[in-house]
Amino acid sequence: MASPTIESILHEKRLFTPPESFVQHAAIKHIDQYQALADRAARDPAQFWAELAAQELHWFKPWDTVLNWQPPFAKWFEGGKINISYNCLDRHLTTARRNKAALIWEGEPGDSRTLTYAQLHREVCQVANVLKQFGIKKGDRVGIYMPMVPEAAIAMLACARIGAPHTVIFGGFSAEALKDRLLDAEAKLVITADGGFRKDKTIPLKAAVDDALANDGVPSVENVLVVQRTKADVTMVPNRDHWWHELQATASPHCPAEEMDAEDLLFILYTSGTTGKPKGVVHTTGGYNLYTHMTFKWAFDIKETDVYWCTADVGWITGHSYIVYGPLSNGATSLMYEGVPRPSNPGCFWDVIEKYGVNIFYTAPTAIRAFIKMGDELPKARDLSSLRLLGTVGEPINPEAWMWYHRVVGGERCPIIDTWWQTETGGFMLTPLPGAIPTKPGSATVPFPGILADVVDLDGNPVAANEGGYLVIKHPWPSMMRTVYGNDERYRRTYWEHIPPKDGQYLYFAGDGARKDEDGYFWVMGRVDDVISVSGHRLGTMEIESALVSHPAVAEAAVVGRKDEIKGEDIFAFVTLEGQYTPSDTLKDELKQHVVKEIGIIARPGEIRFADALPKTRSGKIIRRFLRNLASGEAVAGDASTMEDQSVLDMLREG
Ligand code: WT7
Repeated sequence: MASPTIESILHEKRLFTPPESFVQHAAIKHIDQYQALADRAARDPAQFWAELAAQELHWFKPWDTVLNWQPPFAKWFEGGKINISYNCLDRHLTTARRNKAALIWEGEPGDSRTLTYAQLHREVCQVANVLKQFGIKKGDRVGIYMPMVPEAAIAMLACARIGAPHTVIFGGFSAEALKDRLLDAEAKLVITADGGFRKDKTIPLKAAVDDALANDGVPSVENVLVVQRTKADVTMVPNRDHWWHELQATASPHCPAEEMDAEDLLFILYTSGTTGKPKGVVHTTGGYNLYTHMTFKWAFDIKETDVYWCTADVGWITGHSYIVYGPLSNGATSLMYEGVPRPSNPGCFWDVIEKYGVNIFYTAPTAIRAFIKMGDELPKARDLSSLRLLGTVGEPINPEAWMWYHRVVGGERCPIIDTWWQTETGGFMLTPLPGAIPTKPGSATVPFPGILADVVDLDGNPVAANEGGYLVIKHPWPSMMRTVYGNDERYRRTYWEHIPPKDGQYLYFAGDGARKDEDGYFWVMGRVDDVISVSGHRLGTMEIESALVSHPAVAEAAVVGRKDEIKGEDIFAFVTLEGQYTPSDTLKDELKQHVVKEIGIIARPGEIRFADALPKTRSGKIIRRFLRNLASGEAVAGDASTMEDQSVLDMLREG
């Protein structure tokens, strides 16, 4: 539960009502209007979603059953025929949106591209036809390992168009991590790029794919489609590797969207858990389309002329739901930026806002904290007056960061939506509707209409106001994950068995601690399990430990999160060595590099401490609580009397 925010959040009392100028044009203008929606939805969630599904989306054929709930397995809109690429593209082409910008893209080196809905549709159809040429058909999985270029979104939409589930693997993952995911998904084809630009360097994506596939490493993969981005020197394996631009050029721009069952698999996205390997979170078509559509529409209060920018990478759920599917389903203009703030251009985000007149800006607390460090001068040197609404996601935002965001970026006129959700939930669970819900710095406020959230104890009983407990969702929602890919049992165990059903009602366990205040506002405190969040990236401590012990020098490893001013948490690893190895700085660096090789740059430990032994209970369990205290330089809290060897603690403290 480590996070820099808890102490300040506990004493936060400020309330910000949305400015009159904002409310005037908002779709949902008053808390009573929100309450009426939420009440109606709570009385009959299935009816509520059915009405919106009929009103907001195109269906080739209507559904037979709105919700089929066999806990913990939900099916939404069974019998309905739908295609999310059709909803994101085709249906806009017969309207005034045909020539509106769908994607605005700014590359890191300063190149840029705008694709209208008509142009995007054309390219998606061409690439869908390329996939078909490789024999990809409905149900075949396609891996996508790409930089932040328009082709990443095109690839996703092309897969969705022909009913081939995609699995996007973030470009910061290593060849090893890529291989694990491609193997688990049994991907038939991989779409990648020669490389990507990252902080004025290039990352060799194609080379990583080559490593993952070497020696028939992923036997299911037959072909690799390569986008040319950095012009890096790459080896093209004959009969396996193909240039995207060459095949796209000759492919037909006509490709009807496949009529998918609402419950057909749309994508798998891997995320870290507490045990073992990352799990493949499964999302299906109809419910996901509806829920990302509605949350984008109401929480971002989208207007026809808005330029909307989410700074996430398409490799994460935020990119899936709120760069690609949610915005495009609404016919919005979604901006994609390839770069990140870097020494050569620390103010690049503010440049992009000014250049494109961004109206809605959605980013992460870790980025905001980094900006605070860089000083107010950078944002103040740019014209940010186009901004109307701000959003944040990924981890609890500390009130200080919220206030800075409000004051310096939002000019005190922009509401902030703090959106709490997860890879598993598909879309926002807790968020203010910005014209209706007054905000409190550090609180994700209230559930989205149709979401029945609560804070309970381990028996499923609601806790009193302001008391800490576990965040749960009490009723299925359209974009909930359907299962862990290929592992129903793991799905059941992870999300539905920590807290038993209460009065016959199943409770979805999110893994977060939270409290609800006297106004019913939720305050999310952070993970209650062995998952840590480094710069908003979710990592399992077990995953990092496994990576460490796979190095010959390491006997045992224990990883905990340590509070970090900017990143929220940083990775702190305690390591015991095999007899023939001796501690040294060189070995520390080698181990850090080893973790980067096994998982990726996002998992590089901030600190490694060598120890002769780890603190354990008499039954041999590592006492992580002590390690967390030690990592943060705090006194070791709690009873140490169960410990096997008291002297171990003293040794670890000294480092
Ligand atoms: C975990 C989910 C959802 C997209 C980004 C991360 C934390 C996310 C918030 C927020 C407090 C948050 C939770 C959650 N989290 N948003 N607004 N306030 N905590 O997706 O990688 O699936 O991680 O991120 O701990 O469980 P993810």
